[in-house]
Amino acid sequence: MLTIALSKGKLIESALELFRRAGYGVAGLSGESRRLVFACPDIGMTFLIVRPSDVPTYVEYGGADAGIVGKDVLMEQDSDVYEPLDLWFGACRISVAALMGEGLRDRLSSKIRIATKYPKITERFFNERGISVEIIKLYGSIELAPVVGLADRIVDLVETGSTLKAHDLVEVEVIAHSTARFIVNRASLRLKHEPLVELIRRLRAALEPRASMLGKGRSSTTRRGKKKAARA
Ligand code: PRP
Repeated sequence: MLTIALSKGKLIESALELFRRAGYGVAGLSGESRRLVFACPDIGMTFLIVRPSDVPTYVEYGGADAGIVGKDVLMEQDSDVYEPLDLWFGACRISVAALMGEGLRDRLSSKIRIATKYPKITERFFNERGISVEIIKLYGSIELAPVVGLADRIVDLVETGSTLKAHDLVEVEVIAHSTARFIVNRASLRLKHEPLVELIRRLRAALEPRASMLGKGRSSTTRRGKKKAARA
């Protein structure tokens, strides 16, 4: 039996659709329900519905054998998990944004305040540019921070851009692009090798029309995984 952690919220419907295309019956499974565990014995899987930011933790520590989560969360958490598939849905970018008019003003000589739910990504990005920033960690509704004067800028996800627009914010710079990823616990990959390899193969096949259209189909590990591999 494989345990799969799915991110509740924006990614769940596309994740379930992918499992269906890969030939796994996941009827009755929904992100809307209050249920957090769905056993699907017919396909040998149990699905956990968890907060996106908890998916890497479940997978890294073996609470789940595998999971689906956005690259944004993986970049922020730097978890030690295997990341074999880019799933291509949930495309968005992590961007710096500012109030209209503020974006073009050069305020970089003084310490700027940045509100975000991605403190590590934000710190890395500004550190690399030698810009000193004060980071204010928030857990949601980030766009409010500049509106009420809590921060000069924000670092947040932009998908359609409509939330920025609704708050008179403009994108100043794109830090990174993000899509949903399939991640796997490293020990599970050894101990449950066959079912996991089969699952990866079927998910990859279900992705293929889209992935080949985009001319991609990469396999990678997260930062810590890469460092580990380099050390080995
Ligand atoms: C995300 C993100 C932005 C919004 C961007 O928020 O933090 O607020 O989506 O989408 P858009 O560019 O299509 O408008 P989410 O809905 O996940 O909620 P949150 O703000 O509470 O984190």
